[in-house]
Amino acid sequence: MKWRALVFVLVTALLCLGFGDGVREQSLREAAQGSGMLIGTAVRPAQLSEMAYSSTLAREFNMLEPEDVLKWEVVHPERESFDFSQGDQIVDFAARHGMKVRGHTLVWHQQNPKWLTDGRYTSGELAQIIEKHIKTVVGHYRGKIFAWDVVNEAFDELHVGELRSTIWLNQPGIGLAGNGSSYIERCFRWAHEADPQALLFYNEAGAEVVNPKSDAIYAMVRDFRQRGVPIDGVGFQMHIEKLRADVASISANIKRFTALGVQVHITEMDVALPVDPNGNPRPEDLQMQADIYREVAAAFLSHPGCTAIQTWGFTDKYSWIGSHSKKTQGAALPFDRYYGTKPAYDGLRDALERARSR
Ligand code: XIL
Repeated sequence: MKWRALVFVLVTALLCLGFGDGVREQSLREAAQGSGMLIGTAVRPAQLSEMAYSSTLAREFNMLEPEDVLKWEVVHPERESFDFSQGDQIVDFAARHGMKVRGHTLVWHQQNPKWLTDGRYTSGELAQIIEKHIKTVVGHYRGKIFAWDVVNEAFDELHVGELRSTIWLNQPGIGLAGNGSSYIERCFRWAHEADPQALLFYNEAGAEVVNPKSDAIYAMVRDFRQRGVPIDGVGFQMHIEKLRADVASISANIKRFTALGVQVHITEMDVALPVDPNGNPRPEDLQMQADIYREVAAAFLSHPGCTAIQTWGFTDKYSWIGSHSKKTQGAALPFDRYYGTKPAYDGLRDALERARSR
């Protein structure tokens, strides 16, 4: 009887020390260690005072990105004044927890302040305004933000392959309309002058697979690389709808971009599920969602040029999908509303664990 008691004590002790399920207890961040892959998420500073939010964030991720507070309307609310208070909060949090920071975004057609969009500036004035914006914001975070989405979503949805009509291109534009992607080139050069060490990314939606939009981006990036325009990477947003992801095409797309010598980041991954009026998904969809997280992450982990995987938020409590889909979709992230892990979390972590030795 005595030896049985001894075995019992030993096994209990080992389990308490975590030997029994040490692997399962790893956080995403721990699982990513050694794979060379950064694992990040978008962050809202107002939520940092919520204990469960900030502890989950620090435990699970080694990179973060402000979801909204470095966009023009927040950071540059008046023509002559900048407001870095919320961005600084996020950057301080990252520094305290040993996390890298991605910057989002310097040039976009959305979330711009009225003084800018309604200002009726000339092209010359607009060029000065954007140069000052880029240099001030990138300069403020020099050495603190390691990578920037310099330009976001510059290609059109309807006229696929063409540049989107925006205040920057042609409404009135900064004076380079009709010259292809040269306004984008100017923005990259200004960002590079402000922080020569920062990695500069072009970020886009709906260009994860090989399609006419990603073809156009590919042509632009190839041209930039050939002519020495300072571009270091391409961001695939990866907002997945309808539970479909063509992983083979994503892989082929990654291959052609990384062959140009640029890095690829997943910048905004979420996998939206149909939800009932209470915001609850169908249980069977959660497993399909997990498979998508696992397979997409695995595809990225198998390409050495892919250096970061980032989700657009981490808890279903705070996600843009609800308002974006008028509450018909949701539950898109790896943690549920109560910070419990979902099958999607396991899928992501499985992929990271398997890739440890890449
Ligand atoms: C979204 C934010 O998540 C929301 O909070 C905001 O109201 C609108 O913008 N592509 C992008 C992100 O590049 O900046 C967008 O973020 C989502 C789509």
